[in-house]
Amino acid sequence: MPLDPRSDRRLRWMSSSTGDSAALEDLDRRMAAFYGESARRYRYQAMLDTREDHPITSDSVASGLLDLIVGSGAGTVLEVGCGNGWLYRKLREKGFGGIYHGVEVARYMIDRNATRHPDAHWSCGTAYEIGLPDGAVDTCFAFYVVEHLVYPERGLREMLRVVRPGRDLILVFPDFAAVGHLASQQTGFSPGRASAKLRRGRLFDAAVSLFDSRCRVRSMLRVARKKVGPFPVNIRPLCLTHPGVIESDVDAVYVASRHEVADWAQDQGLRVEYPFGTEALYHSNAVVRITK
Ligand SMILES: C[S@@+](CC[C@H](N)C(=O)[O-])C[C@H]1O[C@@H](n2cnc3c(N)ncnc32)[C@H](O)[C@@H]1O
Repeated sequence: MPLDPRSDRRLRWMSSSTGDSAALEDLDRRMAAFYGESARRYRYQAMLDTREDHPITSDSVASGLLDLIVGSGAGTVLEVGCGNGWLYRKLREKGFGGIYHGVEVARYMIDRNATRHPDAHWSCGTAYEIGLPDGAVDTCFAFYVVEHLVYPERGLREMLRVVRPGRDLILVFPDFAAVGHLASQQTGFSPGRASAKLRRGRLFDAAVSLFDSRCRVRSMLRVARKKVGPFPVNIRPLCLTHPGVIESDVDAVYVASRHEVADWAQDQGLRVEYPFGTEALYHSNAVVRITK
């Protein structure tokens, strides 16, 4: 009997650098639609918008990133995957007086940002095709975006291309390999955590979920790079198989790992730093500065 695709818990991970190009292109097309179409994005964006409901605290990852950018004295910055432009507003609040470019795949977000902030530059584009000349910016940054890229390596190359030599690309992303959890991967026969399933009396599903998350997924996350190949992506993320489930990172396809990003950059002869270290908050949230 064919497996109900909604209960499919297999790990469909593939190297985005060397994997099946047709499968990756299909994933890229579907993810672009997920992010780009306003009707589909509405609930997802509503979740992201809540970040601006409270002031950012000085010990938060966002605040640390903004301080780095402002402190670097960058005159021109580019944000890739800028969403609703909230970090642009926060940058200004922190005293950034330079030129800001925001790039985002969702055209309607860009149109909104351009109306709200005509003093900045907004363009619809992708991390793979930024539309700025080589070396155009002092700092390029991407805040929780790399893990959403179907082609992270391509994105890294393009983001570095637009950075002026000697200046920085700063990436913030969840280190799924370090934390041993990938929210876009279904565990058990339905979305959701084992504890929630247990509360609903779905005992078998809860037990399988627990096994999947603690054993199968966690152990695979540790070796994904070796077993699957470079820059592994989940080609069946929950955001596509269960569009009704809108939770953090159900759309994070890249099995993001700071070690992989750092190794890749070092192989290109670039300097890599973790400006806030790799402990506590920064164990699960990687902040990686790559100097060109
Ligand atoms: C988790 S959201 C973060 C958005 C924003 N940085 C924020 O903090 O609100 C991920 C963002 O990456 C964008 N994105 C996804 N794929 C992209 C791509 N290929 N190129 C550029 N941005 C992309 C999405 O549209 C979305 O706005």
